[in-house]
Amino acid sequence: MWIFKVGVVGAGSMGGGIAQVVTFAGLPVVVKDIDEKQLDLARRHVEGIYQRRVDKGKMTAGQMQEKLDLIEYTLDYDDFMDVDIVIEAVPEVMAIKEAVLKELDEACPPDTIFASNTSALSITEMGAATSRPHKMIGMHFFNPAHVMKLVEIIPGEETDQDTIDTVEQFTQELRKIPVIVKECPGFLVNRLLSPYLNEAVLALEQGAATAAEIDEAMGRDGFGWPMGPFFLMDMMGIDVCAHVGAYLVTQYGDRLVEVQLYQKLLDAGRLGERAGAGFYTYTATNARPLEEIIQELQASGEVETGTRFGVDRLIMPFLNEAALCAQEEIANVNDIDMACIAGIGMQVNKDGDLVRMGPLEYMDEVGLDVIVEKLEALEEEFGPRFHPAEILTQKVRAGHLGKATGYGFKEYTT
Ligand code: 3HC
Repeated sequence: MWIFKVGVVGAGSMGGGIAQVVTFAGLPVVVKDIDEKQLDLARRHVEGIYQRRVDKGKMTAGQMQEKLDLIEYTLDYDDFMDVDIVIEAVPEVMAIKEAVLKELDEACPPDTIFASNTSALSITEMGAATSRPHKMIGMHFFNPAHVMKLVEIIPGEETDQDTIDTVEQFTQELRKIPVIVKECPGFLVNRLLSPYLNEAVLALEQGAATAAEIDEAMGRDGFGWPMGPFFLMDMMGIDVCAHVGAYLVTQYGDRLVEVQLYQKLLDAGRLGERAGAGFYTYTATNARPLEEIIQELQASGEVETGTRFGVDRLIMPFLNEAALCAQEEIANVNDIDMACIAGIGMQVNKDGDLVRMGPLEYMDEVGLDVIVEKLEALEEEFGPRFHPAEILTQKVRAGHLGKATGYGFKEYTT
């Protein structure tokens, strides 16, 4: 099946970004929201992206206008009668997603594909809310959608092959990199990110280090990532992190401890960069200071205090989760690495040089025996959430330690 026209429901920063990506590839798109103000924000977001291209001399004002003319912003479904695919990007609440899908079921032709940009929720469950579960699929973009190259494609239990093939081809037409991911909570990249981000918030609320210290340690000049966890969460939105985090705690409770700080930030209106304040303060200088919120949390006895921060405390749970995804064949080994490079810009700082490298290759380079030792030490210090994945201990027992022995997650020739 070919895609000639696209619908996007939900004009938040992801919905707007996705609309820009679609028009950049030359396809018309109709963007629907229930709030005129959201549509205006999306319009400005898309225009801003194109304007920066014009300013950089990458396109002319005329070409920009041609792209902008491909977008229609609307409060109703009248123009969904001829869309070939709809990408929904509404809030991460299953009841909202199901209600929107039911409306779409009425508004769209029977062969329209329903794609969800959900960060973590079940595609199979969403498909069951429609009359076309075989046409329901996950199409997960990464923030900022116009920059990050990855799109995770997640078939639900009933998704048919034609839908998978069409969405894979469509993703390539959008000049993005498709990676097919087996359905599981958080899919691939968010599943890896969540224990990492969760641990960062735990370390912060426990007073082990400040947000700036942790970001410094994880960022380009430290471990090497393009941005530290708190800048990243502010960009993603604290509301998204809180919703996704709470859901994943219910699914992976043995590896994720519930954090208190998200809710406190939401209560204080610190919803992230777009709201002017999140972990950092941008424009909302009147927002309740983060330090005060943390002090109150610690004084209430709701959080443990006196723990220690180190880079391993954050990176090891990310790597361990990547090992678990390899063990569960959530995606193939090369795709796991590529997804992390294309989705979150994973890179490591090697003596001042930033080298693009995914988690499995990184573990192979460090040595799987070293990774297991570090996880065991962290398990001793912080508890069972650091328990090494079975695949790691198995490979170590087999002498497959990574690059040094020629075998690890991948094979290496010397
Ligand atoms: N918020 C929004 N857009 C931003 C941004 C921010 N905080 N920082 C940079 N950008 C945009 C810039 O506006 C610019 O857009 P333009 O091309 O239209 O001008 C573009 O990103 C590139 O910016 P820079 O030239 O300044 O490039 P940098 O070298 O600073 O890279 C980055 C910026 C690409 C955002 C880089 O820091 C990066 O890769 N960060 C990691 C991002 C990441 O991990 N994203 C995935 C989050 S998880 C997710 O989205 C899943 C979802 O389910 C929650």
